[in-house]
Amino acid sequence: MSQENENILEVQGLTKRFGGLAAVSEVDFKVRKGGIIGLIGPNGAGKTTIFNLVTGVYKVSEGTVNFEGKSITDLEPYSIADMGVTRTFQNIRLFKNLSVFDNVFTACHLSATYSLPEAILRLPRFRREEKLLKEKAQGLLEIVGLQDRADVVASNLPYGLQRRLEIVRALALDPRLLLLDEPAAGMNPDETEQLMRLIADVRDRFKLSVLVIEHHMDLVMRLCERIVVLNFGIKLAEGSPDDIRGDARVVEAYLGAPAPAGGK
Ligand SMILES: Nc1ncnc2c1ncn2[C@@H]1O[C@H](COP(=O)(O)OP(=O)(O)OP(=O)(O)O)[C@@H](O)[C@H]1O
Ligand SMILES: [Mg+2]
Repeated sequence: MSQENENILEVQGLTKRFGGLAAVSEVDFKVRKGGIIGLIGPNGAGKTTIFNLVTGVYKVSEGTVNFEGKSITDLEPYSIADMGVTRTFQNIRLFKNLSVFDNVFTACHLSATYSLPEAILRLPRFRREEKLLKEKAQGLLEIVGLQDRADVVASNLPYGLQRRLEIVRALALDPRLLLLDEPAAGMNPDETEQLMRLIADVRDRFKLSVLVIEHHMDLVMRLCERIVVLNFGIKLAEGSPDDIRGDARVVEAYLGAPAPAGGK
């Protein structure tokens, strides 16, 4: 297998300027198929901007993003999502007034193939597919341990479980690459530990690749096989958790300072 085929995501020379500010500057990194890669760095380092560039929310100023060997650099967000790249957000985005089940069920519908007339007339194909989507939503809730809360309104879930629900919604879109933006933000150590197991479990179960932004260093160091460190939009270092822990520049720019308690 060629080197290219082993990587699900290849980012090269990625640059994003906002006016005079280079939020991301000539960043290169790769995500191996099946890999879990960490993206870390101080507040404002450009981490979320990289997610916005990879998912097409922001237009790239310079550089390329390849997904499964094809350029997605100039594609629209819905095409990129369709190809199998989905994300969660630093600030939770759920349908707060819908139940846990409906949050997942609505996400499952984005992969529905029946037509509008078939849905309105409730034709057999619609009914068959609705049944399958319901089973899919139920199955996903079971995998992440939310099946007992299926009827709870999302905003009434404890914070840690809302973050978990956001991950299930992303999984409902059948991703091959999952981007998680501070999934453990606001979680206590126990919830963080459980989340780490969940991410490793869904990676194995769904044969995913994962790119995760996190400030909880314990989670990043134990979960990720490689870590990319950003500082002021520039890649400061890249390597295994041990490489990163021992890198004097990273310690000075980031690890030396006390980690924030959670996201914003
Ligand atoms: N739409 C925008 N317009 C202007 N500047 C932006 C925009 N989005 C991000 N920036 C700037 O780009 C820089 C990087 O922001 P980004 O949100 O990517 O940081 P981050 O590493 O995710 O930080 P945090 O850990 O606080 O979430 C910041 O200086 C930010 O103010
Ligand atoms: Mg961010």
